[in-house]
Amino acid sequence: GRPIGVAVLGMGNVGAEVVRILLQNSDDLRARVGAPIEIRGVAVRNLDKARACATSLLTDDPASLVVRDDVDIVVELIGGIDVPRTLIATALEHGKSVVTANKALLADYTGELATLAASAKVDLYFEASVAGAIPVVRPLMQSLAGDTVQRVAGIVNGTTNFILSAMAADGDDYDVVLAEAGRLGYAEADPTADVEGYDAAAKAAILASIAFHTRVTASDVYREGISSITSDDLVSAATLDCTIKLLSICERINDSSGRQRISARVYPALVPHTHPLASVNGAFNAVVVEAENAGRLMFYGQGAGGAPTASAVMGDLVMAARNKVHGGRGPLESTYASLPIAPMGDV
Ligand code: NDP
Ligand code: HSE
Repeated sequence: GRPIGVAVLGMGNVGAEVVRILLQNSDDLRARVGAPIEIRGVAVRNLDKARACATSLLTDDPASLVVRDDVDIVVELIGGIDVPRTLIATALEHGKSVVTANKALLADYTGELATLAASAKVDLYFEASVAGAIPVVRPLMQSLAGDTVQRVAGIVNGTTNFILSAMAADGDDYDVVLAEAGRLGYAEADPTADVEGYDAAAKAAILASIAFHTRVTASDVYREGISSITSDDLVSAATLDCTIKLLSICERINDSSGRQRISARVYPALVPHTHPLASVNGAFNAVVVEAENAGRLMFYGQGAGGAPTASAVMGDLVMAARNKVHGGRGPLESTYASLPIAPMGDV
């Protein structure tokens, strides 16, 4: 088939790994897609930084790149909200499929963007936005689409789990481990999003929306972070045969009038050592899904970092490219947000 043109926006922790995989695995990817995937351009902020790709691909003008006629798919890995919101909307309006890892943006704007994708008849994929390498978005949207999910709970932030694990195991200092999480490419550009629970809350909003076929945004999620957790707290937890984990819990509940609602909350919790989530350490994440007919499912793996996240981005990119080649289209998130189950807010 004709080549599929890709614009990569951002070449940081994740974008650099996506570009590496695209360049290294081009033959395999061509065979899997049925057409070559060609990088049309890579948008960055600083054109003077050394990069592992041809200089001719680099641009600091992502707005021009996303509307190019030879671009079929836009991969957004810039981060933030306002800049990528405009770029993604423009790309969708110009008929480009979009792949993004941007949970902060999706938590509040999936509805808007999915509507644009639906009217342009293109794909909007975001597997990498929750729990890095772990496939959890697609299982919830596709594999479990015929079941009734009751609860989605687990550890969805790698940085805070890395910090809590190191503090629990070695009594490491909070600030030292946080800096290490930044060096390893786990933390957000502003790590406040990680340690104060905003990142986990954004992921909870995405998970709750797709698991319960409704619209939950970040402000619907009760949120507490880990910045006030001390080594002494972890020592006290250990004396109770527990550890402390930042949990994200989304579930169907009945409110006081018996109406079904969605509760979504993020907070540091005591987890008994015997519980499977207690042994999820480092930047690993785990998500437990409970569904009426499937029963309990557990998803586990690397929740942050360049290469693991790039794996999830690449999966979406291959799906979007196949759809461009073969004329199909992926599931539309907007059509799932059809049930009028209201979020609970702070419960
Ligand atoms: P980085 O901060 O490492 O990279 C951001 C990239 O975007 C940089 O290359 C930067 O350019 C570029 N950029 C920033 N602003 C602009 C702009 N206005 N125009 C063009 N380019 C711009 O982020 P990450 O790679 O860590 O994260 C990217 C996205 O993926 C975020 O949404 C993040 O939340 C998400 N994510 C990250 C994970 C991780 O483990 N790191 C995991 C899952 C999701 P320059 O290089 O010149 O500074
Ligand atoms: N900062 C995020 C984390 C990246 O630590 O989990 C993965 O989404």
